[in-house]
Amino acid sequence: EAMLSADKPLAGKRVIVTSGPTHEPIDPVRYLANRSSGKQGHAIAAAAAAAGAQVTLVSGPVSIPDPQGVTTIHVETAREMLAAVEETLPADIAICAAAVADWRPDSEGAQKMKKEGNKQAPELSLVENPDILRTLAQHHTLRPTLVVGFAAETETVVDHARAKLERKGCDLIVANDVSHATGIMGGDHNTVHLVSPADVESWEDMPKTEVAARLVARIAEILKAHR
Ligand code: CTP
Ligand code: CA
Repeated sequence: EAMLSADKPLAGKRVIVTSGPTHEPIDPVRYLANRSSGKQGHAIAAAAAAAGAQVTLVSGPVSIPDPQGVTTIHVETAREMLAAVEETLPADIAICAAAVADWRPDSEGAQKMKKEGNKQAPELSLVENPDILRTLAQHHTLRPTLVVGFAAETETVVDHARAKLERKGCDLIVANDVSHATGIMGGDHNTVHLVSPADVESWEDMPKTEVAARLVARIAEILKAHR
């Protein structure tokens, strides 16, 4: 049994964090993506490592450096992200902070699409990506003890987060309001609500690094209460 110490509340725990956007190829030079910077997810991975956990960060394409003291796996697509997460199991805790593309082009063109010879703009046909959070939360054999998701919402934030919690089957949703989206996506601050089946905890606006540290502390408490 690992020594329980106040400053290393996750000592001996295995943690998986997903972070960043995914890129879904259209052809060899184009992709679908979103504005996620990876700052919140990377900060959570760093905070979990600082709390003593053995952390694997599965990151989509971002422009920020790999956190210290963390094993980082770089992926591009949602399907690659899911495969990396599944290879990393088992884990005690999974925190899905990535902004996974909900859809991908149904096929990747082998060659760059050309304007020449095409009278009309091409149409993109999309198919749904695997849901990594849902896969973890509903895993039959290797479900982490605690599965945490994020939810970016633009209206009735807490109601939508509650519905998402139920739909995904996870233990906690960190919900943020991105309606006044200047600042949150790409920014350094975040205003979040922690939504669990039992209650809601709303935190004041604070730096993403502080959200990360406090979230990791809360998760350690919840895990401790769990047994
Ligand atoms: N998520 C995931 N895999 C996906 C889509 C989402 O792991 N294919 C995770 C995100 O990392 C996040 C949570 O699910 O932790 C919620 O993502 P969100 O986009 O808010 O939820 P969706 O279920 O995709 O619903 P919608 O986009 O329609 O609001
Ligand atoms: Ca989504």
